[in-house]
Amino acid sequence: MGLAASPAGKRIAVLASGRGSNFQALIDAVRAGSIPGIIARLITDNPEAFAIQRAEEAGIQVSILAFGSYPAKEDYEAALKSEMEDCDADLFVLAGYMRILPAAIVRAFPGRIMNIHPALLPSFPGLHAQRQALEYGVKVSGCTVHFVDEGTDTGPTIIQRCVPVQEGDDEESLSARILVEEHRILADAVRLFCQGKIRLFGRKVTIR
Ligand code: GRF
Repeated sequence: MGLAASPAGKRIAVLASGRGSNFQALIDAVRAGSIPGIIARLITDNPEAFAIQRAEEAGIQVSILAFGSYPAKEDYEAALKSEMEDCDADLFVLAGYMRILPAAIVRAFPGRIMNIHPALLPSFPGLHAQRQALEYGVKVSGCTVHFVDEGTDTGPTIIQRCVPVQEGDDEESLSARILVEEHRILADAVRLFCQGKIRLFGRKVTIR
């Protein structure tokens, strides 16, 4: 697994917890033919996630692992790991997935999990990255697609895009401006992965 491409290209599985606009950007890019792959499954921890409707509209299989229905975090994580194994995916994309993956999952899929983060890492990791950027007073922020390692938003950088912070921005306006670029770089990174153009050397990523 991992190197073998299905006839339709790479198999992609997406993890999302909410609105799913980044997930939609991937659906649209696959439909447009710019990503040589198929989105095989959506996995969500949130039964209310709007991402579920997007998957259903696109005919993508959905696995709902409602976090609150498991007795403990470890039980949820064990179920998630077996669900991910069951996907037989080449690539997993965290697209607004709001939990930290445990080390056991990160180790099970080395170099095969990507995340989109709404800041220029290593600045402003974790939650509310856009609010952190505004509170710090930076003049430029942006977004980052990176491989997931065992830290929080610390993995190897794949693509970054700058977005200006404007006078009078609030969290909503800055988030909206960054989101436009998130959609672009996430689709680009997934396309490059599916085209076999991404190489990982330690924590350095090169794109052929
Ligand atoms: C995005 O800003 C993503 O970077 C962050 O959460 C937001 C999710 O948006 N992690 P969506 O669910 O993809 O619309």
